[in-house]
Amino acid sequence: MSAAPLVRIADAGRPERIGQRIRIRGWVQGTRSSGGILFTKVRDRTGAIQITARRDTIGDAVFDALEHVQIEGTIVVDGTVIADARAPGGRELRADAVEIIDAGLPFPIFEEQTEEFRLDKRHLAIRSPEIVRTLRLKAELLHALREFLDREEVLEMTPPILTGNPAEGGAEAFAIDYFGRPGYLSQTAQLYLEALIVPHERVYAITPSFRAEKMRTPRHLTEYQHLEVELAWTDLDGLLEFIERMLIHVCHHLARADPEGLRELGRPPEELAALRAPFPRIRYADAIQELRAKGYAVDWGSSLGTAEERALTLERSLPIFLTHFPREITAFYMRRSPSDPRTVEAADLLAPEGYGELVGASCRETSIENLVGRLTEMGVDPAPYEWYLDLRRHGNVPHAGFGLGVERLLRWITRREHIRDTTPFPRTPSRHTP
Ligand code: 4AD
Ligand code: MG
Repeated sequence: MSAAPLVRIADAGRPERIGQRIRIRGWVQGTRSSGGILFTKVRDRTGAIQITARRDTIGDAVFDALEHVQIEGTIVVDGTVIADARAPGGRELRADAVEIIDAGLPFPIFEEQTEEFRLDKRHLAIRSPEIVRTLRLKAELLHALREFLDREEVLEMTPPILTGNPAEGGAEAFAIDYFGRPGYLSQTAQLYLEALIVPHERVYAITPSFRAEKMRTPRHLTEYQHLEVELAWTDLDGLLEFIERMLIHVCHHLARADPEGLRELGRPPEELAALRAPFPRIRYADAIQELRAKGYAVDWGSSLGTAEERALTLERSLPIFLTHFPREITAFYMRRSPSDPRTVEAADLLAPEGYGELVGASCRETSIENLVGRLTEMGVDPAPYEWYLDLRRHGNVPHAGFGLGVERLLRWITRREHIRDTTPFPRTPSRHTP
């Protein structure tokens, strides 16, 4: 018989395919036998279809072998597309030739296992429909972010991951041995992006960031994808408007691009499509009052943890900007607020529904005196930051930027219980394999 044309499984179900002889290839989802016929469900990246195979058509040897192909075994099938209301999706492929590429061993993952076991078998668990849907949305999310940034004329940069000085605080940096000298895995690309704004004015990077925090929470990874944007000639209002527009673009894009995937994961796409500016802006000082009224023991200078962030956002349907934190609880590079010097020109974007911080944003301090003052106050030797201080000596410019945790955003969008469900091979304090 002549070779049949190779067709994606999603296309095998199209009306014009009925009666045609085609070839499909993919992975077996299960086989049952009834009345001398095998019913095998096969999946490729586009969809799934039921194959029917008769002993007298495909031959004894192949029939017996197909019956023993395991779940996730790999096959290539030639056959004719038949409309049959009893088949899932209303189509089946009546096989006339089957090639078994890999019969497979019994697939070790099934419903009743513990989460720990699934994490040990993560290299196989990533085939589950839930993880497949989530990672497709992640690819679409990255695409939408780049599309927005490109449209806004923000240029993609490639800052280093291996660095000589920790940027977000020494205690939470992974230290490495760099040929006998101290080195660190990057926690943020910000300082490099600040150098790059002078020739390019508007830059961004999407890189892995590393945090050596022993945080066992549903929103901390030790390695995550970090989108960072740095904009020259921008103040806090300009920055927050930019973030708003970016988030709205991404949410609207996903609602259009993959409404089914979102719905399957528990996020009605209409909710994303309804996202509108402006997001409420709440000063830290006012948030403290709101929290105290709700019975939280917080004072000026308290860092707001998971419980406090939850309390501020649980009943809101829009994300909120929390702004103007006390200087003493913030990073050294944040600009002291001219209107209230106890605070900095900074904001965190908190997701609704208690999902927590998505973005950390600030205007950058342009005064060398204030920068060195803060580092000294924090007990950090300014010497390794000399190159960064140089930026304030040559072409100093008012500027601002932010960092967004890609997995944090995806977790909120797809309503995942744990951030590890938004990344194929999660890195947490207790796990860096497989
Ligand atoms: O708030 P962070 O620490 O800010 C910075 O690193 C700035 N230097 C970024 C910048 O302005 N260029 O981190 C930014 C974001 C957080 O809002 C959060 O979404 C995410 O990074 N993030 C994490 N995501 C997953 N796991 C962790 N352990 C994270 N730590 C921060
Ligand atoms: Mg932060």
